[in-house]
Amino acid sequence: MERRPEPELMLAEEQARAYAEADFEEPHNRFVELFQETFPDQDAQGYVLDLGCGPADVSLRFARAYPGCIVHGVDASKTMLNFGNQAIRKQQLEDRVQLFQSYLPTKSLPLDKYDAVMSNSLLHHLRDPQVLWETIKQFAGGAAPVFVMDLMRPTSETQAKELTQTYAEGEPEILKRDFYNSLLAAYRPGEIESHLEKARLAHFSVRVISDRHLIVHGRSGDAQRPLSSALCARA
Ligand SMILES: C[S@@+](CC[C@H](N)C(=O)[O-])C[C@H]1O[C@@H](n2cnc3c(N)ncnc32)[C@H](O)[C@@H]1O
Repeated sequence: MERRPEPELMLAEEQARAYAEADFEEPHNRFVELFQETFPDQDAQGYVLDLGCGPADVSLRFARAYPGCIVHGVDASKTMLNFGNQAIRKQQLEDRVQLFQSYLPTKSLPLDKYDAVMSNSLLHHLRDPQVLWETIKQFAGGAAPVFVMDLMRPTSETQAKELTQTYAEGEPEILKRDFYNSLLAAYRPGEIESHLEKARLAHFSVRVISDRHLIVHGRSGDAQRPLSSALCARA
């Protein structure tokens, strides 16, 4: 099945609210657990960049799992960031999770280099997937862990409908519609592998982890660079 792009940004209040209020406990906890399994020696201290952070649910879960880190979440949607800032205040993590409005690609973020870069469910929104990989190359510090999770496009519309029924059945219509559209907009593992090759990140691994999710992970910089678990301390 051909990829069917969806709008990049989630700007509408109703759409952002439905997303912010949805229960993503299972996949978002899984995101953090998979990061921990992928980089077991990594005590994530220092600055972590969350690309396309939306309402910051993953940023917050990550910050709670790694008390030594500060997360900078970036998203172009002010509406999403407003929901994110409410959640940050509620959890009293203002000093450790900070959000910035920025449309990717960008030449500047609050820091030039980050100690780790992560992203959940941004890739399928991007018309040009190189935006994600080039941003990672630009902002991930030497040998920084990079961890991306996203949806995987099913092989047919029928399968997309079945997945929507299985995983979004009790959700509001708008969320069901977004989930279905996101499945159709997602990339296939082989497509991502070619994007990584083009970005000269062929040393990154792509792994299917469920009937609808895949992860991409690796270290920034040269594949031959020795792995270092030492992250910069907080500035
Ligand atoms: C499906 S949401 C994921 C939010 C969050 N990462 C999560 O897992 O809950 C995708 C987010 O990416 C943002 N986004 C899409 N394209 C973007 C771009 N080019 N620059 C910045 N943000 C973008 C959207 O506004 C939206 O908030």
